Amino acid sequence: MTTPANDDETPGAADAPPPDRPGHADGPDGGRGDDGDDGRGTGNGNGHGSDEELHGLLAEFETPGALIAAARKVRNAGHTEFDCYSPFPVHGIDPAMGIKATRLPIVVFLGGLTGLVLGTLMQWWMNAYDWPWNVAGKPTWSIPANVPISYETTILLSVLTTFFGMWAANKLPQVWHPFFRLDRFARVTDDGFFLGVEAGDKRFDLEQTRQLLVAAGATHIEECYVDARPEARTMPRWIMAAMAVLTMVALIPVALVFKARATKSPDPHWHVFSDMDYQPKLKSDQPFADFADGRANRGELPGTVARGQLKADDAYYRGIAGGQWLTGLPAQVEVSEATLARGKQRYDIYCAPCHGFDGAGMGIVPARVEALGGAWPARNLVERGSAVITMPNGQLYNTISNGYNTMMGYASQMPVADRWAVVLYVRALQRSQNAAESELPAGSQVR
Ligand code: HEC
Repeated sequence: MTTPANDDETPGAADAPPPDRPGHADGPDGGRGDDGDDGRGTGNGNGHGSDEELHGLLAEFETPGALIAAARKVRNAGHTEFDCYSPFPVHGIDPAMGIKATRLPIVVFLGGLTGLVLGTLMQWWMNAYDWPWNVAGKPTWSIPANVPISYETTILLSVLTTFFGMWAANKLPQVWHPFFRLDRFARVTDDGFFLGVEAGDKRFDLEQTRQLLVAAGATHIEECYVDARPEARTMPRWIMAAMAVLTMVALIPVALVFKARATKSPDPHWHVFSDMDYQPKLKSDQPFADFADGRANRGELPGTVARGQLKADDAYYRGIAGGQWLTGLPAQVEVSEATLARGKQRYDIYCAPCHGFDGAGMGIVPARVEALGGAWPARNLVERGSAVITMPNGQLYNTISNGYNTMMGYASQMPVADRWAVVLYVRALQRSQNAAESELPAGSQVR
């Protein structure tokens, strides 16, 4: 195999007779087999005795450069049904072969668009149509909230289209190929550069195409016949079996999910990873037989001193004095303009959205609920003679801390001092809207 890679020189090796087809021994004489179902009946009369169908010619080249030059030549001769095979990607082979840019991006775009539309529709259907749910008066349907999911479904379908589109466009998976029968072709994974012209090509003619490949610089040319045995063309049994088994195994979790949805079993859930749910430790309210009182909780040890978080001051931390709601104010709370200003600022942030800036109960949240056809009135905090006016300061403080019915507590957002400041401000609001004329400073009475 000492052939220059010049495509205008005739390589000596091309004169070598085509080797016998592997795995093919018998068969009656008499021209082309007529079992081919594709009707390419270009009788070529090369006199091989076979019922096997000619797949094409496989030519080997010494270098990637020679392969590119040959591809160009074969293409210029008008061939379209041919392909190049090399151990690594060869730059410039696509234009040399006349391969057009893939249309996959268009398909992927359509896939992504489908994902976008489906993802958006899904959210609309779930959130605004099938199960509309009022969350603090927010609209059930709003584009910004849906962007992340729609974005993800767009990516998802684009990626799936790319993946499976690539397989489909390349006719994968392909576990057999006629060229696999040629021993020499195995070198395509090592150091062989091949060009195969298929017999289905309009311009294919065994002799002329062979001449063309010789002229293109091929160092070796072989005819390739399709293995007529059906078992040689199908996916190996064990792969099919493995795929069937894997599919069944993959369906098990799905089946379990559906079973879990339908079952009425009182048994606890399965815990695949139980270490986070069941830890080898005792929680405070669990039973534990090893202690005489049967409880895991050992209580406070005598003489223990709390460090920092004791909060023993009931009046300040809980608004309770002597088992009753505190009516006055804890000693820590200083009644001053600064405290009131702080209270107003906190109220406007934490309470006004529901109770309104004036305390009358119509903040933007209830207003929005009403606009959507629902009803979730916040309490009127300033209504003359109402319970909120007469409730002790301690109870008001407790409502802010722990909430009341559908109003949540604000202990996690507001420090204790701020909660007391809001108590002061709510009192100021009530006073300002219920004051008797006699309470106004002299000179400011209404006439
Ligand atoms: C998200 C809306 C919302 C916010 C914010 C809110 N509240 Fe309320 N609040 C309510 C609703 C609703 C009720 C009436 C609950 C009921 O009667 O079931 C209520 C009731 C109350 C009551 C009456 C409790 C009682 O015992 O009758 C007080 C007092 C009160 N809120 C004070 C406040 C203060 C002070 C703030 C700010 C720290 C605040 N709320 C923030 C919704 C809210």
